[in-house]
Amino acid sequence: MLPPWRRYRRRSVQTRVDEIAERIYRLSTFLPAVGPSGLTFNQFLVDADEPLLFHCGQRALFPAVSRAVASLMDVRRLRWIAFSHVEADECGALGEWLAAAPDATVTHGAIGCAIWLNDQAPRRPRALADDEVLDLGGRRVRRLDTPHVPHCWDAGLLHEESTGTLFCSDLFTHGGDPPALTDGDILGPAMAAEGQFGYTALTPATGATIHRLASLGPRTLAVMHGSSFAGDAAPLLDALAGFYDDLLQKGVAARRR
Ligand SMILES: [Fe+2]
Ligand SMILES: [Fe+2]
Repeated sequence: MLPPWRRYRRRSVQTRVDEIAERIYRLSTFLPAVGPSGLTFNQFLVDADEPLLFHCGQRALFPAVSRAVASLMDVRRLRWIAFSHVEADECGALGEWLAAAPDATVTHGAIGCAIWLNDQAPRRPRALADDEVLDLGGRRVRRLDTPHVPHCWDAGLLHEESTGTLFCSDLFTHGGDPPALTDGDILGPAMAAEGQFGYTALTPATGATIHRLASLGPRTLAVMHGSSFAGDAAPLLDALAGFYDDLLQKGVAARRR
């Protein structure tokens, strides 16, 4: 059987656009064949003097996602392309985006540049240090190194300070094609998805890393797979950290038995 994206390559895929915070747009493509109930793949566009795209999507989704960006602005205006970690859904179409936006620069953490982008990127990347702020003109995004959270050594997230939006990548992944934005429960569905997929790299630092994200006090969570969340996100992040700490302890205890 063909993998899901090869099947989708032959079909017309639709990417939906929703504004989830002021001038922050969610570009969402639902792939019904992924997982038991289908999965959304979401990129986010931060509209600013120097617009930033967070996550590239897979190469097969580039036509649909770039059409979605073009419905909002000239793709050539893109100045920054960022992503959480090296995987196809996060950065597979990086080359396509850099070709479509000749003035754009890819930016990532120091580890990701060292182990991947310095060798693989078509243009020189801009490495951001942990806690470094990138001024987009009218928007400021802070880079947070989150090694192995949700997975991959190079992992990191961005926090947009004026809207309090945390681009949290695969954290809070949940299936189906739920609404673009919710103030309801995404923690329960995320814990269920963790049980189904087991996608998070549990380490002794997982909980502390997520508690640090909670300390930012985000008001919107831009979730890569599922609904984004609007509201007080700190308790939600603290609860997720507790869930993973508990999962790790149970796993270690089970191995000792
Ligand atoms: Fe991932
Ligand atoms: Fe992902």
